Amino acid sequence: MRLMFLGDIVGQTGRAAVMEKLPELKKSLEPDFVVVNGENAAGGFGINVEIADNLFASGVDVITTGNHVWDQRNILEYLDREPRILRPINYPKNTPGNGAGLFQTTDGRRILVVNVMLRLFMDPLDDPFQAIELIIEDSPLAGGADFIFIDMHGEATSEKMAFGHNFDGRVTAILGTHTHVPTADQMVLAAGTAYQTDVGMCGDYDSVIGMKKDAPLKRFVSKLPGSRLEPADGEATICGTIVTSDDRTGLATNIEAIRVGGVLSQSLPDR
Ligand SMILES: [Fe+2]
Ligand SMILES: [Fe+2]
Repeated sequence: MRLMFLGDIVGQTGRAAVMEKLPELKKSLEPDFVVVNGENAAGGFGINVEIADNLFASGVDVITTGNHVWDQRNILEYLDREPRILRPINYPKNTPGNGAGLFQTTDGRRILVVNVMLRLFMDPLDDPFQAIELIIEDSPLAGGADFIFIDMHGEATSEKMAFGHNFDGRVTAILGTHTHVPTADQMVLAAGTAYQTDVGMCGDYDSVIGMKKDAPLKRFVSKLPGSRLEPADGEATICGTIVTSDDRTGLATNIEAIRVGGVLSQSLPDR
């Protein structure tokens, strides 16, 4: 099976790039399933119902999120009624929405998608390791699911790498989000899990993690309370990753980075 995952969509430029280029990317890379992280899709902060619906209409199968999921009010009841949008699984019990879903490709293969948030330099949520143990016990590879994908939303590279190794051989792919900067460590780990610390954002990289430069620069240089953060609006680079798995084992055989458009060095895998 082939999974294409695109990182945090930031603002209008990120949305426009993903919606415009998704059909081409699907044609050339032939993914069986497409997941995007949409936590910054609405003006850099959160996602709303209209944007989520547009992403689904443009060919996205599942939307994951992260710490910004609560930024737009109208998403709360949508999270409860739309199973194709996920928030991190390790929020407290009774938090709106779902942290995982078992979906099917058009030809009937089962893919478990889980969104989890790590804890170092982040909100102190429930134990992310334990949350994944429980969910993969319910739907293990080669029994409950043909492919298990985890969007690991976290800040610290050390915690992310430890998380990847902890589940190596038990899930198909663990791909990081949240830092908005792609790391060059995409690899298949020793026991067969595809791993990347962060796939990067879909946004304008002539920016500070997707935001116009002036306000963050002022904050860092002067320590005065800065002006409002606004998404940068130059051409976005679509950043993501495509993972190929062996359907007999559910483990990964290949992982490649995607960087298309905008100012980043380009990378488009061959099919
Ligand atoms: Fe983000
Ligand atoms: Fe985030």
